[in-house]
Amino acid sequence: MDKFLVSKSNLSGRVRVSGSKNASLPIMAATLLTDEKCIIKNVPCLKDINTMIKILEILGKKIIFEKNTLTVEAKKSKKYVAPYQLVKTMRASFCCLGPLVAKRKKAKVALPGGCVIGPRPVDLHIKGLISLGADILVEDGYCLAEAKKLKGSHVYLGGPFGSSVLATANIIMAAVLAEGTTVVEHAACEPEVASLILFLRKMGADIEGENTPLLRIKGKKTLRGCEFEIIPDRIEAGTFIAASLATHSHINIEGAEPGHLTSVFEVARKMGAKIKIDKNSRIIQINPPKKIKAVNITTLPYPGFPTDLQAQFMVCLAKASGMSLITEKIYPDRFMHVAELNRMGATVQRTGPYSVIEGKKGLKGAELMASDLRASAALVIAGLAASGKSRIARIYHIDRGYEGIEKKLKKLGANIERVKA
Ligand code: UD1
Repeated sequence: MDKFLVSKSNLSGRVRVSGSKNASLPIMAATLLTDEKCIIKNVPCLKDINTMIKILEILGKKIIFEKNTLTVEAKKSKKYVAPYQLVKTMRASFCCLGPLVAKRKKAKVALPGGCVIGPRPVDLHIKGLISLGADILVEDGYCLAEAKKLKGSHVYLGGPFGSSVLATANIIMAAVLAEGTTVVEHAACEPEVASLILFLRKMGADIEGENTPLLRIKGKKTLRGCEFEIIPDRIEAGTFIAASLATHSHINIEGAEPGHLTSVFEVARKMGAKIKIDKNSRIIQINPPKKIKAVNITTLPYPGFPTDLQAQFMVCLAKASGMSLITEKIYPDRFMHVAELNRMGATVQRTGPYSVIEGKKGLKGAELMASDLRASAALVIAGLAASGKSRIARIYHIDRGYEGIEKKLKKLGANIERVKA
């Protein structure tokens, strides 16, 4: 298993953000809604994308993935089972359920199960599909959905932690081929959901209300193939902003969508950063302060501060002057990185969904263990910001979601090497 060797670094220069993983995955699942060819551009080359390719191949699609362009060839298929061996490695595969039951009348998708960032139920997905008329059976670790004809309905998708990104995606993808009109209330407003809606509209779907919690979907008999470009990865962009702050380095971020990063800019500015956005080139210039100011962060559904950047920004707060509070409102147990940061000399106390961070002058390198995708990005940032050397194990997590992370960081001048353990 590979490890990263990381040491204190000053970053400078320009980094280009890749296409969004979280936008790509549901859009790939949406290709199940047509037998025509779909061409999807700006898809990042990542482990999770390869997992979704394997699932689509098992479901009968023929796929070519070259130079970040994914061609999903037309192939009629009646296959409807997404097996546990693949689904267990990536929750997003569960969003094949909606398109499969809508197009092939039957879907059998393994339940994704628990995850290191806490319990991740699928009740909202199931509730939504039942509202559209699907019969659902949960048995032997699989969710089996069947419907001769889905029917438009009124679906409320609010859960105990707010809206759900992938449940919204699943229900939209089922409703586009249902008979009649579906109204979705408390839909997720994440840019990745809006992007899925634009993709489906290009396929011929009739959907109103993207970027809002109220969607109106008029079902169509069939959908066609199309060409589409994936939006930039706002979480990758935010990760580079955190890296810039934690290492006190001035960097320029290229190719991101500033409009998707408002809450992140707001927090970074409160921490003392100066952020300039060039209107023409849309390059985002990050000028970190000499001393980071302590701030309180609450993660919330979009347009709030993303839970997927909580760990990375905790590293910055560990070096701030004063006490900060992070409140995790999406995944109350998503604090696996706290113990690792404390091993580097940080002082973070976690109680339930809260972490109190007492800012320190510096962090010290250590032997570290990555627990999940975003926590591993946080540990890399911590290693770049700490004195001495860090060795980070289980970096296969980071390969799930960051395209060429060490190449991009090296280009910025980071001391980072991938070594065989
Ligand atoms: C997506 C993202 C993930 C991000 C998360 C929250 C993808 C591939 N993944 O995951 O990176 O961290 O959004 O922004 O896009 N919930 C329920 N019942 C359900 C579904 C969810 O209670 O049926 C809860 C979850 O446990 C969580 C909250 O709702 O507390 C939000 O989760 P959700 O938006 O569904 O996350 P994902 O879509 O799985």
